[in-house]
Amino acid sequence: MTRITHDLVLEVLEGCADSALQEARPLGLVRTVGPTELALVTDDLDAVRGLRRVVSAFTGLTVPARRPRELLETSVQQRLGELWADVERQRPRQRFQGLRLEAAGSDTPEMRRVAEALAERTGVSTDPEGDLVARVRRGGAPGTWQVMLRTTPRPLATRAWRTVNYPGAVNATIAATVLDLLQVGAEDSVLDMTCGSGTFLIEQLHDVAPARAVGTDLEPAAIDAARLHQRAARRRGRIDWLIGDVRELEIEPGFTRMVTNPPWGTLHGEHAENEQLLADLLRRGAELAAPRARMGVLTHEITRMHRVLAARPAGWRLREEHRFFQKGHHPRLFLLERG
Ligand SMILES: C[S@@+](CC[C@H](N)C(=O)[O-])C[C@H]1O[C@@H](n2cnc3c(N)ncnc32)[C@H](O)[C@@H]1O
Repeated sequence: MTRITHDLVLEVLEGCADSALQEARPLGLVRTVGPTELALVTDDLDAVRGLRRVVSAFTGLTVPARRPRELLETSVQQRLGELWADVERQRPRQRFQGLRLEAAGSDTPEMRRVAEALAERTGVSTDPEGDLVARVRRGGAPGTWQVMLRTTPRPLATRAWRTVNYPGAVNATIAATVLDLLQVGAEDSVLDMTCGSGTFLIEQLHDVAPARAVGTDLEPAAIDAARLHQRAARRRGRIDWLIGDVRELEIEPGFTRMVTNPPWGTLHGEHAENEQLLADLLRRGAELAAPRARMGVLTHEITRMHRVLAARPAGWRLREEHRFFQKGHHPRLFLLERG
């Protein structure tokens, strides 16, 4: 069977693009289009579904056109039909429940006709709540329009293992990027000091299982969720989940990599307490760290974190501040190193 080449648009969160670019490289020619978008040329949609730093993948066409109605032309529709046939060839099969058009002016008669044509091509009827997301927008070059279909019913960022909706859980594509920046390898000993539902450590198992992995959280409900998630993820590698205040828990030291995504705003805590906790986490991290250990603090409490760092706590040195952006939130990773 001849394979179809797709010009994919990969949607990423701001702050994840470089990591996603590295991850997509083995799949084909990839380039950065902007802070939230990559372009990938590939014939392997099954491999695309494995991308963990990408929010969504869209296949599509960019055509010379002055108006969206030109997308109704037979040659464009036939090519879309070929791309769609390949979307349907994915294994396991992706089942779509309705086609949702996302476009400026999606209610205009012209756009509605485009949506109907796409529904006819794909055999998936239009539905404002549909999971086959179709996008129509102007192309990058003047005088072009772009039509795209998401290749999966759920975003790639949605993890099948996440069965518990834990408040404040970190987006999995951000977690995977944080782990890239921390450079976690098979020889590392990793501690997530405020593990919540376990996102960091479970994501890590999808890359490489570290020599030792420990997650701690105050809340028994968090540890229950983390255990359930680890079981559902079915990845090789052991994680020890401990309930308790990481400041007091008895834990064997020697961690080469530590991560914490402490409470922020008033979620799970109060602002003033959060600042004290940030300082305590750095101090406790220093007690548990191996020489030259690295720690990643992912927090929304930027000003408070700067204040804590100004006191040069416990011998940590700031290597980098890395900004993320997600739906109105600006979490930032403070990448720290010992001595
Ligand atoms: C923003 S949530 C972490 C979410 C997690 N990254 C996830 O993806 O599910 C912050 C967590 O810190 C925990 N926490 C707060 N203070 C703590 C402490 N002193 N020791 C351990 N965990 C703590 C809270 O119970 C909460 O689960």
